[in-house]
Amino acid sequence: MRSAAFLLLVILTDGASRKVCSYLDVLDYLNLTADNRAFTLTRPVLDHTHTTLVKLDIILYAILAVVEKTQTFVPFIWASVEWNDERISWDPAQFCGITEVAIPKDLLWRPDLFIYEMTQKDDSPQNPYMFVSHDGMIYFDEDMKVVSTCKMDVHKFPFDTQECSISIGSAIHCVQEIRLIPFSNSSRATQFSRKVMKTQGEWEFLRLSVGSLNVSFDERHWEQLIYTVSIRRRPLLHVINFLLPILFFLTLDLASFFIADHRGEKLGFKVTVLLAISVLLLILNDILPSMSNKTPLIATYCIVIFALMLLSLLETILVTYLMEKPSQDKLRQQGDFQDPEEQVNIKNKEEKQTCCSCLCKVSDNEKQHELLPVIEEVNNSFQTGEAHVLLMILDELKNLQKTANRQFISREGLAKSAHRAERINKAFFTFYVITVTLFLSFIFIEWNT
Ligand SMILES: *[C@@H]1O[C@H](CO)[C@@H](O)[C@H](O)[C@H]1NC(C)=O
Ligand SMILES: *[C@@H]1O[C@H](CO)[C@@H](O)[C@H](O)[C@H]1NC(C)=O
Ligand SMILES: *[C@@H]1O[C@H](CO)[C@@H](O)[C@H](O)[C@H]1NC(C)=O
Repeated sequence: MRSAAFLLLVILTDGASRKVCSYLDVLDYLNLTADNRAFTLTRPVLDHTHTTLVKLDIILYAILAVVEKTQTFVPFIWASVEWNDERISWDPAQFCGITEVAIPKDLLWRPDLFIYEMTQKDDSPQNPYMFVSHDGMIYFDEDMKVVSTCKMDVHKFPFDTQECSISIGSAIHCVQEIRLIPFSNSSRATQFSRKVMKTQGEWEFLRLSVGSLNVSFDERHWEQLIYTVSIRRRPLLHVINFLLPILFFLTLDLASFFIADHRGEKLGFKVTVLLAISVLLLILNDILPSMSNKTPLIATYCIVIFALMLLSLLETILVTYLMEKPSQDKLRQQGDFQDPEEQVNIKNKEEKQTCCSCLCKVSDNEKQHELLPVIEEVNNSFQTGEAHVLLMILDELKNLQKTANRQFISREGLAKSAHRAERINKAFFTFYVITVTLFLSFIFIEWNT
């Protein structure tokens, strides 16, 4: 009898020490099953005047995209949400010390939080479980790719800093029902985000600040948590791709003042440089949004440089025109004078030829006859021919003097106009250099502040 009682005691104690608990026991105890919809129906409070405190934490994992053209900001965030479910509690001692159970997310009520700026449904894979604690605290976390709108100011592009907000609030519950409490303050969120940041792309993450706001409508207030992400663009790529090439072209344009050529080549060079800039302007069109309250500085930069180069092109055209004008005038003058001159020349030539041919004829025909009469005749012909040749030479000399005079006059005119063009060139170059220097310093100061 005593031994039987002892045996029973041994079995009992053995059973107690070997007690096995599963998570299902906890769920059975809570009546938390997929069929039981009571847990998902309403806000988890026993008294409807109780407020559900929702603790929220958001950390920035990555900046996936920032598109200025469409004003879209795509961060990848990690969000954790924690609240209290008053209907859930168990004693861990009764369940072998189980303090936490992971259950599918759709078994319990969850706060209806949403992001106001989000424009696309998140399609990244979801974590299907959440933790339920023995004191009724529910906790889950989620990774989200948030495609959100963000009003960007591209005035200082590419040296700009952008601030994009992610506002989180309950869709229907007002502030008396759901209070939102940020788990980390701004400095902690920033520090933590810096630590886990995987990729920032073109952007440098500055800080993540937390704030809250009450939105009212019809005497009802909703609470919102606003996470503001500050990012600064890394301008190197744009400087290399855009600002420097334009500056190089401007330098080339400045240098072209030293091309000592007053025909078409300088003009062609300037036109080519201007065309190269207009190609670069097309790239700008792809990057910047057309709507912006303030003109982007980079647009001013391009347009002013473009205008300056156009002005210098026009100045080159003017100078070329001024240089060409006197020589054209000279050509026209020569055209007027040359005709009679040439006629005279041609006449002279013809006379020479006829004279020579008559001489030859004379010498050929009279060879066989007596010499004396021949010599006489030749002498005679020579005398008349000599006078003629002298006249011709005189004529020729007169013509030579005339053209020399004219050339001297036109050369003088040319030198005068060249001098004038040179002066215009110098004045414009000075103006150009001063304007460029002033403008560039102005725009770089604007960019820096
Ligand atoms: C679970 O349901 C049973 C009856 O279906 C009830 O007796 C029990 O009290 C419920 N448990 C809890 C924690 O509500
Ligand atoms: C932010 O929170 C951390 C701890 O989480 C605390 O040490 C720090 O003082 C807080 N900073 C501010 C500005 O409240
Ligand atoms: C929002 O309203 C709640 C409750 O009235 C109040 O405690 C909280 O300070 C308010 N928040 C702001 C940012 O005004």
